[in-house]
Amino acid sequence: MTSGRGPQVLEIVALSRVFDLPRAFATANTPTVRVIGPDQVTDPAKIEVAISWVPTDDAFAPYPNLRMVSSIAAGVDRILACPSLPDHVVVTRIRDTAQADMMAGFAAWHVVWHHRRMGQYVANQPLRIWDRSFQPPAPGQVRVGILGFGLMGQACARVIGAMGFPVVAARSSASATPVPDGVTVLAGPGSIQAVAERSDILINVLPLTDATRDVLDAALFARMPAGAVLVQIGRGEQMVEADLLAALDSGHLAGASVDVFRSEPPPADHPFWGHPNILVTPHRASDTSRLEILRQIALNYAALVAGQPAPGAVSRTAGY
Ligand code: GLV
Repeated sequence: MTSGRGPQVLEIVALSRVFDLPRAFATANTPTVRVIGPDQVTDPAKIEVAISWVPTDDAFAPYPNLRMVSSIAAGVDRILACPSLPDHVVVTRIRDTAQADMMAGFAAWHVVWHHRRMGQYVANQPLRIWDRSFQPPAPGQVRVGILGFGLMGQACARVIGAMGFPVVAARSSASATPVPDGVTVLAGPGSIQAVAERSDILINVLPLTDATRDVLDAALFARMPAGAVLVQIGRGEQMVEADLLAALDSGHLAGASVDVFRSEPPPADHPFWGHPNILVTPHRASDTSRLEILRQIALNYAALVAGQPAPGAVSRTAGY
């Protein structure tokens, strides 16, 4: 904290090897929170809070009094995996209903894209082809599965369920979270596989943990109904990319939307770029506003200072 005549300003150091966060937040800093780069830190001992997205391995080492690290988003996997993250530091994430709504809109758009075979119309347009022959099944006949039933999965289920699609979602453990009409939730071991078996369109919004790494693999694709499609908007490391290619090329899966990759950006020769049945987007499924990120960081930090649990704290053992 720095003090002066005005309100106290919480200076938080930004640690990312992929984004210029001080620049991104330059126009969003509030009177009470300021994001600075490591090069602007005058006394590392005064830094108690960091904001991070894909930190370097030694990113946290210079700050002996670090108490809290916040992700800029919902995911914390790269922060938790960072070797210099001290055990006692509280890791928080952003839980933003507006981000979840944005995610739900993106997922719903992909459901319509595949259900209505919109790719065919996009391909037909430059050829001036007016082809109305495809008759889509009614939404009630297209089963949508959602892997993950946290804030993101619940928003996706609510929106896609309201569009008339029967939705079945998998969550890691039972919970009292209310389930929207038209949505079935399966919990616990085997639920991911059981949902995949019942999904004509399977949407992945799981957090990345040891349990979900490589979960979208040949064995899971084989359980999906013939002609099913995958919407991968979780984390790149959850999918064995070669297995998706094999499932598409064998004709077992009909298509996929992929927003997240094992390595981002994927190299120019990555086979997904030119694949006729894969729709690639550059990790743009959803976003949180910078002001909301700073608001939640300030709230989480205030809770810690007051000796309370930070509302956005993740479980370091669960990984989310
Ligand atoms: C985006 O990838 C997020 O973690 O919210």
